[in-house]
Amino acid sequence: MSESSRLPSRIAQKLAERQQQGLHRSVRAFHHQDGKLIDEHNNTYLNFSGNDYLGLANDPALISAWQDGLSLYGAGSTASPLVTGFSHAHQALEASLCEWLGFDKALLFNSGFSANQAVIFSLLEKGDVLFQDKLNHASLMEAGILSEATMLRFLHNNIAKLDSGLKNQADAPSRFVITEGVFSMDGDLSPLADIASVCRANEACLMVDDAHGIGVLGKEGRGSCDNAGIQPDILIVTFGKAFGMMGAAVMCSAQVHDYLTQFARHYVYSTAMPPAQAYALSKAVSIIRKDNWRREKLHELSSRFHRVLSEHHEVVETQTPIKPVVLGDVTTMLTAAEHLKSAGFWTGAIRPPTVPPNSSRLRITLSVNQTLDDVNALARKVRHILEGDRHE
Ligand SMILES: Cc1ncc(COP(=O)(O)O)c(C=O)c1O
Repeated sequence: MSESSRLPSRIAQKLAERQQQGLHRSVRAFHHQDGKLIDEHNNTYLNFSGNDYLGLANDPALISAWQDGLSLYGAGSTASPLVTGFSHAHQALEASLCEWLGFDKALLFNSGFSANQAVIFSLLEKGDVLFQDKLNHASLMEAGILSEATMLRFLHNNIAKLDSGLKNQADAPSRFVITEGVFSMDGDLSPLADIASVCRANEACLMVDDAHGIGVLGKEGRGSCDNAGIQPDILIVTFGKAFGMMGAAVMCSAQVHDYLTQFARHYVYSTAMPPAQAYALSKAVSIIRKDNWRREKLHELSSRFHRVLSEHHEVVETQTPIKPVVLGDVTTMLTAAEHLKSAGFWTGAIRPPTVPPNSSRLRITLSVNQTLDDVNALARKVRHILEGDRHE
């Protein structure tokens, strides 16, 4: 970098600010084994921080499906989908997603982040108005800010605000509403039936990002929309949470599919996911549909967690595997996370800017990999921390 560039000093200053605010973060390497985390010093923790809700990431049937896929199709897709990267394995995955979720078409992406950005950047134009729930994921917010459309954020899950916002923008050429099915840091559900009816009444399009609801909620794990009895115009499903893998699909009409195939740059100019991965993802779809016991077990773990912590207002009761324990300031939250860690529990330590100021929280997540005893032990430890007795 040139000596006269201001970039190095700006980088140093921003990093120092992050340190001073207690918000500096770094990556650590873990080994995952039987639902446990083993760190670089060989310490073992029960993992209460991941998104592998259904316990599929290390499922033997899924591992062997990916291995079979490698033997059948090789290691990589070799090109973007429109060149030669799209295979029969991708086609079969799209067909199984459509059949399961009741959409005409599916379009595969390498991540939920890119799927969200692709839809927003390609569908919306100058003059359009995009309405987003204030707590939507960073991928949605960032694309909304950068898109040519006007973005308006409505208060979290507030139907009246959404309705009045839509009415105020009745002259916009196109109005597009995006919400999550399950909010990633709060674990609460979006009031999808009401949102869908407000969108219908105002002739607005609805897109639901169901990263955290797919597989977990609804009949055969069809997700938040099935759970609420609605069908949005566009549904985003991601494969990095309940599927135990990675990637995403945009579920939509044949016309939107054709449009995205022409204009979605994240799709057109990016190497297709390996066909072996698509092959394994088809296996994941069939496991998710069939294994109702996984959703039943999550329900049982969730009830136990809330039973132990029912008297503590910091613990937000949710119907999903995401259990926020909102502690407010960063130091209190980090101290609680440290106490849990020394007792062998790894939880998500979530702070701004991921969540609003003064709402730092432990993001505790449940998974089929855990036992009732594990959840009981964690919940008791959390209870003792909240009651100020950290030495139990
Ligand atoms: C609601 C939501 N949407 C999208 C994403 C991004 O998905 P991916 O991890 O597949 O990029 C996430 C990931 O954390 C998420 O929570």
